[in-house]
Amino acid sequence: MNDLKAVESHFRFGENWSSYSDLIDEDRIRSSVDGLQKLLGDSGVLEKRFLDIGCGSGLHSFAALLLGAKEIVATDLDADSVKTTEKVLAKHGTGKPYRVMQISVFDLPDQLKPDFDVVYSWGVLHHTGAMVEAISKAAAMVAPDGLFAFALYRKTPYCGLWRAEKKWYAKTGLRQQGIARAIYVTLFRLGCTVTGRSFKKYVAEYKKMRGMEFLHDVHDWLGGYPYESISPPQVDRLLRSLGFVLERRFVRSGLTSVLGSGCDEYVYRKTM
Ligand SMILES: C[S@@+](CC[C@H](N)C(=O)[O-])C[C@H]1O[C@@H](n2cnc3c(N)ncnc32)[C@H](O)[C@@H]1O
Repeated sequence: MNDLKAVESHFRFGENWSSYSDLIDEDRIRSSVDGLQKLLGDSGVLEKRFLDIGCGSGLHSFAALLLGAKEIVATDLDADSVKTTEKVLAKHGTGKPYRVMQISVFDLPDQLKPDFDVVYSWGVLHHTGAMVEAISKAAAMVAPDGLFAFALYRKTPYCGLWRAEKKWYAKTGLRQQGIARAIYVTLFRLGCTVTGRSFKKYVAEYKKMRGMEFLHDVHDWLGGYPYESISPPQVDRLLRSLGFVLERRFVRSGLTSVLGSGCDEYVYRKTM
């Protein structure tokens, strides 16, 4: 097995999701529901079989249950993400059937039937150690005429630098990580001042983005290793070759920031 695919070489995503999950409240749940509706439409999940690959905290699987999914299978490679998702779904439960599995995207086609109406994988496939293969494996789980909704880091001129930083951060001590976060937040504040934005307002409104939380996302951004990135034309070529057509996408425009690549969101439909 390629070492980068092994959980031991990864950032401890699950620990971060476990700590984040204590913050899940009505506002964050509503933002997550809004995020899913933006991608999949008001009834895009209703009565659908929904596969969440790289479920993290489980919040978005829960949102899919709230939107009327018929059945949820939530999967993650990291044992802490799986535990957290089980906790979140049990706590907020809707009575609808769900299953949480610790499994890598690379093993899914061997373990589950490829008949999901919606396959959702937000901010995951670029963290697997083999992004293009991971996209193909996830795409293989979509039923004919089903939807594949995913988000991936945008390729920027700074990706090499960030990959090196993440490799270091993921394995360094807690003190060094704390110092790195303090430096990053200071630079981010400075960036806000220079561009005339309010840092306080940005942080306060951060939960509107799919229910996320600024400092947990800083930790995830600085440590998210393995790390790959991709441009929208590259995504389109790959998905077409896999038999998909673009349904909608939300891609970043304008200048890329040196402080982060940001995720582009895509929804493709399987045509065969
Ligand atoms: C940045 S988090 C995103 C979590 C969630 N999708 C969200 O949007 O909040 C990435 C997640 O992908 C998981 N992951 C990494 N490699 C994976 C793999 N090979 N198979 C499944 N999940 C994986 C990580 O453990 C982590 O929970």
